[in-house]
Amino acid sequence: MSADARWLAGLEDRARGLLPAPVLEYVLQGAGDSVSTAEAVAAWQRVRLLPHVLRDVTQLDLGVTVLGSRVELPWGVAPTTLQRAVHPDGELAMARATAEAGGLMVVSSNAGTTFEQIAQTGVTWWLQAYLPADRTLAEPMLARAVDAGAGAVVLTVDTPVVGTKHHVGERVWDVVDPALLRVNFDEGHDQQPGADKATDLGPHDLDWLAERTGLPVVVKGVLRPDDARRCVQAGARAVWVSNHGGRQLDRAVATVDALGAVVDEVGEDAEVYVDGGLRTGLDVVTAAASGADAVFLGRSPLLALAEGQEGVARLHRLLREQWAEALRLTGCRSVADTRGLTAAPAPNSL
Ligand SMILES: Cc1cc2nc3c(=O)[nH]c(=O)nc-3n(C[C@H](O)[C@H](O)[C@H](O)COP(=O)(O)O)c2cc1C
Repeated sequence: MSADARWLAGLEDRARGLLPAPVLEYVLQGAGDSVSTAEAVAAWQRVRLLPHVLRDVTQLDLGVTVLGSRVELPWGVAPTTLQRAVHPDGELAMARATAEAGGLMVVSSNAGTTFEQIAQTGVTWWLQAYLPADRTLAEPMLARAVDAGAGAVVLTVDTPVVGTKHHVGERVWDVVDPALLRVNFDEGHDQQPGADKATDLGPHDLDWLAERTGLPVVVKGVLRPDDARRCVQAGARAVWVSNHGGRQLDRAVATVDALGAVVDEVGEDAEVYVDGGLRTGLDVVTAAASGADAVFLGRSPLLALAEGQEGVARLHRLLREQWAEALRLTGCRSVADTRGLTAAPAPNSL
């Protein structure tokens, strides 16, 4: 194994040495019995590819255009809470390394760094939002994101309640400094009546968000084609196939198994993204081949962040090399070229 491949494979082990136990547990954990989390990585490895040959793969187009913005990588950083507990520089280090790579970062509304500071790094960024029971309470936070230049708003819809997670010893919430998160909300926001997560989200909320922000709306946490169609009918510009890294409904389907039907249903009318268990350049090719317009990575960049900005920069660099190699080996030059590369799943894997 090359030094680079060893570094990539060792992300979790090194983070184990760097992070306090409750923070590491928070990053890695899944909901319930962690069935969905545990199967996510292997699910991509089940897919088999039918590569092209006799094609010129000298020049590659490694980037993509998402919602009208050109980015130099087909993966974005998924929104993750507690980046400042993983590294003191938190979202800033994540944003700087991602900006340097020409990538896209989706910033959690729970972020511990102000949107203005993140925007100043020059990164292309979108806001991820949960909506509260009283929607108007979200307005100041949404306005701050718009003022700071968010390019889209991603509404996470798989979290009417936070999925229960088992833990050993102290919970991260018992040890983490509350100043490390939710700095883009008004002071006292969480104590107000109606600040809990909405349990009555509906298609009309997409309209409301688009109208309040003037931004394209992406819906994150969709697994079914019928829901994807409802999102697009309600004005969503993109649908993000996700089971929240297995942190919400345990036993939710692996995203690779949900992606194809969503692409078939809405792929002509909206962009389709996917996340969950994607770890390598070959996984990115597999997702693109299965119809994803872009993919997102949650735990990988978060574990790399334990090693600071340089860790995230190295992750982007290594994945870029793997992605380029995988493209050439499949006889493809771009995301668009990869469509239809998928063959049947591996024998005995069903
Ligand atoms: C520690 C952690 C915190 C997360 N926080 C958020 C969040 O604030 N908002 C959100 O929409 N998703 C959140 N997610 C889910 C990710 O955006 C993403 O869907 C998931 O991590 C993808 O799977 P992967 O970790 O296997 O790449 C979080 C995931 C992790 C691991």
